[in-house]
Amino acid sequence: MITINDNYLKLKASYLFSDIAKRVGAFQKSNPDREVIKLGIGDVTRALPQACVAAFHKGVDDMATEKTFRGYGPEQGYDFLREAIAKNDYQSRGADIEADEIFISDGAKCDTGNIQEIFSTDIAIAIPDPVYPVYLDTNVMAGRTGDFKDGKYQGIHYLSCTRANNFVPDLPNQPVDLIYLCFPNNPTGTTITREALKTWVDFAKKEKALILYDAAYEAFITDDTLPRSIFEIEGARDVAIEFRSFSKTAGFTGTRCAFTVVPKSLMAFDKTGGKHSIHSLWNRRHTTKFNGVSYPVQRAAEAVYSVDGKKQVRELIEYYLTNAALIRKEMGALGYDLVGGDNSPYIWIDGKSDSWEFFDRLLNQAGVVCTPGAGFGKCGQGYIRISAFNSYENVEKALKRIKQVL
Ligand code: MLT
Repeated sequence: MITINDNYLKLKASYLFSDIAKRVGAFQKSNPDREVIKLGIGDVTRALPQACVAAFHKGVDDMATEKTFRGYGPEQGYDFLREAIAKNDYQSRGADIEADEIFISDGAKCDTGNIQEIFSTDIAIAIPDPVYPVYLDTNVMAGRTGDFKDGKYQGIHYLSCTRANNFVPDLPNQPVDLIYLCFPNNPTGTTITREALKTWVDFAKKEKALILYDAAYEAFITDDTLPRSIFEIEGARDVAIEFRSFSKTAGFTGTRCAFTVVPKSLMAFDKTGGKHSIHSLWNRRHTTKFNGVSYPVQRAAEAVYSVDGKKQVRELIEYYLTNAALIRKEMGALGYDLVGGDNSPYIWIDGKSDSWEFFDRLLNQAGVVCTPGAGFGKCGQGYIRISAFNSYENVEKALKRIKQVL
């Protein structure tokens, strides 16, 4: 008899964004004449930067003749891309990261979801609330939690992010082994200072814990005093893994390319206290379960670091940040307390009512899709997240409609 992994039965019926897509689909079906503006899931709408498109084409041409054709590539990614990342994203900012510490992949969602499988199932985990649901759900699937009760999974140490701590979690008041952090934050759009991040690095060092640092939105940082990478913080090489993505940086949500940085100095322990290289374990996992990102896509990603690519990516980010500023301005003018949107594409708004009710109201009355804060955790109840990923015209139109409804 085939039996299931019954941890799956602890999960909520569907993934947050699938649930929202279902509701939006049902609304569109029963209101075929209503135009719906999507400011929900953080999916980019602008075309790829021209430099990436040209490199993508050239990569496809390389596949068309035997002299330049490539078959299986290295699972960890081609050196040309790993070297461009190490130099531009890390070494140029004083972060000591080498090309062979970078693993190219098809998404930060997959990497943040998969990484937990190299760690023991009985570790103590600290996860922010609200949070990107993938961190939590993948640990539920792996059996690291109890049941879902009263809005929380038993056995998880939740790090509450509320107005009281400016949505930046306080250090855990108990020992933990694995810590998830995301800055600029999804969903709240808040950032962390160097000093605050240093306290996390020091805490992890003291606890022999590991920080999983999701920096998928670092390109949106405009404040130069803020860290773009945890590896800008002294000591982080010994306690952190960082996840990044070309999805939001360069419009790659449909093209798929991301990377994970696993320093070689990073160690985890076996039951007898013996040390093991996390880099080697992740390499083992990656080479066994992943076949690499396609060559033309990696060429397109490499172009992000060319002179033209850098300029075009900057323009792309500024476009979405202009949308974010408009959302901040208009929602603020309506009297809503909000954060995010200045170093992030997400604006976190206190709707002062049930999140799903607010979501339904915006969808049914304004034809605008947002993301209900409660979908990101108990502390998200009462909030909604509005994403800046759409055209400026659509954002303007959505805000006009929202103003009429609220
Ligand atoms: C989000 O809207 O939170 C993100 O787009 C989800 C993702 O990147 O997987």
